[in-house]
Amino acid sequence: MMKTKLSLLFAALVVAGVSCNASAHGNVIPQGADSSAMPPITDGDEAEDGWVFENPYRGLDDDTKTEVIKFGESAYANNCAGCHGLHAQSGGINPDLRELNPDSFEDDEWFVERLRFGSAKGMPALGGIPEGQSEPILDQETLWAIKTYVEARRIVAIEEGEIEAD
Ligand code: HEC
Repeated sequence: MMKTKLSLLFAALVVAGVSCNASAHGNVIPQGADSSAMPPITDGDEAEDGWVFENPYRGLDDDTKTEVIKFGESAYANNCAGCHGLHAQSGGINPDLRELNPDSFEDDEWFVERLRFGSAKGMPALGGIPEGQSEPILDQETLWAIKTYVEARRIVAIEEGEIEAD
């Protein structure tokens, strides 16, 4: 099941001629993730494929959040780093996800938008449901865990002056 979806995605990426700054970082092809240990997200909007539009993991207690960030880190490495850069630091070609501002509701909505629908300029719709399938390649628990990890990286990046807080 997962295999079929990933190979479909692979075919789509090849057809689209996707190129990015990934060659030095290894595989661009998303590997999937098993989010079963993540807190389930059940209060989404049914008319929007069950999505919530604000990071539901942001306010978790520290211990749970640490687990979420750990999982998000590996899910990011396996599914996003090839294009967006190792440790969420972009090489400059594709957007640096640490620029997304967790204080802005719009940035969470933008995250959801890009993950569900992708972009003609090479962002695959990893959280969207491919035609003829019933499940997305990466579920919402995985994607919000990735977002939570990226937000943790943002804090470090601001401290180190790598990006500006806005
Ligand atoms: C095959 C390469 C590729 C992969 C894999 C990929 N992305 Fe992207 N992503 C892009 C490109 C290219 C853009 C810019 C698209 C545009 O500007 O139209 C983008 C844009 C985005 C944006 C919008 C950022 C902004 O500032 O506008 C988000 C959010 C995003 N990606 C999240 C992710 C996450 C999370 C993952 C992993 C689950 C991921 N992407 C995997 C190529 C990729």
